[in-house]
Formats: sequence, C-alpha cells, structure tokens
Amino acid sequence: MSKVLKNALVLKNDFSFEKRTLYIENDRIIDFAMGEVEDLDGMLIMPGLVNTHTHAGMTLFRGVAEDVDLNDWLFKYIFPREDKLTEKDVYIGSLVGFMEMVKHGITTFVDMYFYEDAIYQAAKDIGIRGIVARGLADTDEKGEKKLRLAEEFIKKHRDDDLVKGGFGPHALYTCSMDYFKEIIETSKNYDLPVTFHLLESPDERANFKRENGIESVEFLDSIGAFEKNTIIAHGTDLNDDELRLISKRGSTLSYNPISNAKLGNGIAPIKAAIELGVNVTLGTDSAASNNSLNIFSEMKFGALLQRAKFHDPKILKLEEIIKMGTSNAKKSLPFDVGTLESGMLADLVVIDLNNFSMVPMENMLANIVYSFDAASIKRVMVGGKWIYDGEFLTVDGKKVIEDFEKAYSEVNSRL
Ligand code: NI
Repeated sequence: MSKVLKNALVLKNDFSFEKRTLYIENDRIIDFAMGEVEDLDGMLIMPGLVNTHTHAGMTLFRGVAEDVDLNDWLFKYIFPREDKLTEKDVYIGSLVGFMEMVKHGITTFVDMYFYEDAIYQAAKDIGIRGIVARGLADTDEKGEKKLRLAEEFIKKHRDDDLVKGGFGPHALYTCSMDYFKEIIETSKNYDLPVTFHLLESPDERANFKRENGIESVEFLDSIGAFEKNTIIAHGTDLNDDELRLISKRGSTLSYNPISNAKLGNGIAPIKAAIELGVNVTLGTDSAASNNSLNIFSEMKFGALLQRAKFHDPKILKLEEIIKMGTSNAKKSLPFDVGTLESGMLADLVVIDLNNFSMVPMENMLANIVYSFDAASIKRVMVGGKWIYDGEFLTVDGKKVIEDFEKAYSEVNSRL
C-alpha cells in the first residue's frame, strides 16, 4: 500500500524546509512510489517526536499528588495507589496516555511500568510505536518472577515492528545491587533498550553511597549498565566526570525538565552533557509529575531552563533542541525514527501552517520550539498509517474517556 504526500513543506535533516513530495510504501519513506495522492498544501510535515521516558498508565494519577516532595510523592501517594491497580486499569490509563502523546505529535515512546501485556495492547490499539520496558524492582520477594516475565514478554514481541519489550530496572533505591546486576546481565542477550531512573533527586547520591560505600555511577559502570542502548532517565545530579563516562560508553540521557522542576529536583546538567558528547533526548515522565505528555513543551521549557540557569541565550540552539525531541533517540532504539529520509520509518506529524503560532514564517524552527500550539497538529502517521486525523482513527476517543473515568473512580474506591 503506497501513499504520496504532496505540496507540504517538509522539515529536512539539515533543518531547512522544502516543499517536496514524500513517497511512502508500507511503513517506510522511499524515493518514489505510485499510490494514493494526498494534497497537503498549507501544511508542514515534521518527524514524529520521541518521548524517551514515560509511564503512560499514570494518567490515572494526574493531579493526585500536588505540592509534595519526591519522597512523599512516591511513597505516600503513588506506590499505595499502584498497589491497587488492575491490569484493566493500566490498559485504560495507558490508552489515554498514548492518545495524549499522539495528539501532541509523539509517535514513539519508551514506557516503564507493570502489566506489560496491557501496555502493549494499548499501544497496538492506538497504533503508536514504542518500547514497553517492564518496571523491575525487588522490594518484595517477586523480583525474580518479574524478571522472568519481562524476558518472556521480550521474546514474545521480538519480531514486532511497532512495539517491542525492554528492560526497566526501576532505580537503585528499589533494586538491590545483585538484582540490578542480574537484570543487566540478562539484558546482554538482547539488543533492546535498558532504561532506569538515576540520580533524580539530590538525596539519591548520598543515600546510595552511605548504604553501599560506592557511588551509584561507579557501581552501574562496574556491572556494564552503560551500553549504547541504555536510556538514563533524569540524571539531574550527574557530575562532569560521570557525564564524561556516560558519553564514552555511548548511553543516552533522557532530559525530563518539566517533571524535574515540578518535583523540585533541580535542573539536569544538559549544557555540560552536550559539551561532553552525551546523547541527550527528551522525556515527559508521567502525567502524575508533569502533568501533561507533550514533547513540544519539553523542548521549550528544557531550553529555557538551561538558558536561565547559565544566563546564556546561546545554549541549546533551535537545531539542538529539535534533535533532542526527534532524531537523537534513534541511537538507543531499535527503530529507524526521527528523520524523514528515504529508508526511514514513515512516522510523521502534519501541522497546519494557518495557525497563529506558525506565522509569520520568519523562523520556522523557532515557531516549532517557542510558539507551538498543539492545536495546529492536524494529522499523525505511524509506520505509514494515519492514526489521528482530527480524531482518532484507531479507537473510539469518547468511549475511551468514559472507560477511563470509570477506572479512575474504581481505583479510588479501593484505597
Ligand atoms: Ni519516571
């Protein structure tokens, strides 16, 4: 099945814009194809955005823990609620999370949560691409079982082009050192993403060092945790030496500026990370700490925070921040996403140029980063298939919200 998208302005790899025709065959962009022609005059096509750190199912907890610190947020509000979640809840929560992402132009996600089958099904039902990394922790005796299930899930979906499994050791404060090591060793048998929270809050470094006599990063490096397909979430408290090491090992850092700021965890050292050659991407984290799932917002806020911190309006230039939201993620993922070249996956966003946020067209990159209005997103394609066209083409949006409200009430009634 081929598609020809003509007359749209296309964001190219070199960050210039050109009115050109995109040819799509099956799930990829190719050099030429005959097929159904669609006229997209007045529209801009850009690559779909990539959200490299999220917990989609936590839309059910949007607004439940406001104005509290990370410790209370996690242990007093979130974990007790997570104990009460059923597989059905996680399905509907993830469905809403993925819909919100798609409406904001996100076409690829990296999720870490539990009930992986439900998350997988939600992603498939929407038609969004992603990695479902089962969250792993051994704070109870079920750690081994979880790892076994994660591995089974990974094997089952290894050949799925749209949604694949991954490893999600939650953090060093929820996984014992032996367990973390076992997960990393197991992950070496698969060329798939490994993702974990690291140095998210100021206390984390000192706590780990006090309890274990070794620095978190030193320990993780000793077990080979910083591979090319490792995605480190947050890293708010990483120092230059640690960034240098991460750069050398080739891991990716997922910068989550809004979640970090909202929970009062500080500003990640992104200026230094980039100078030291670390591959940086963007993540929303969950709707419980963000509270929206929108990478356009992360681009803007992420750039502004670094500039404010260093009193420097020249850091995180437009091209740099757009790469963080799109193409940089490819390094750590088993998907050819993030640019619109021939051979890449046809994951793209169609934006209406007749929107106040996009005019004048003096500096289109600046419009994308600094004035963007998600209402200008008209259509979203993943793998050559339109999944959103003003409304969802894959699910009944109204019914999903009804089911979501019902699940939300049920979770609360179990508390
Ligand atoms: Ni997180």
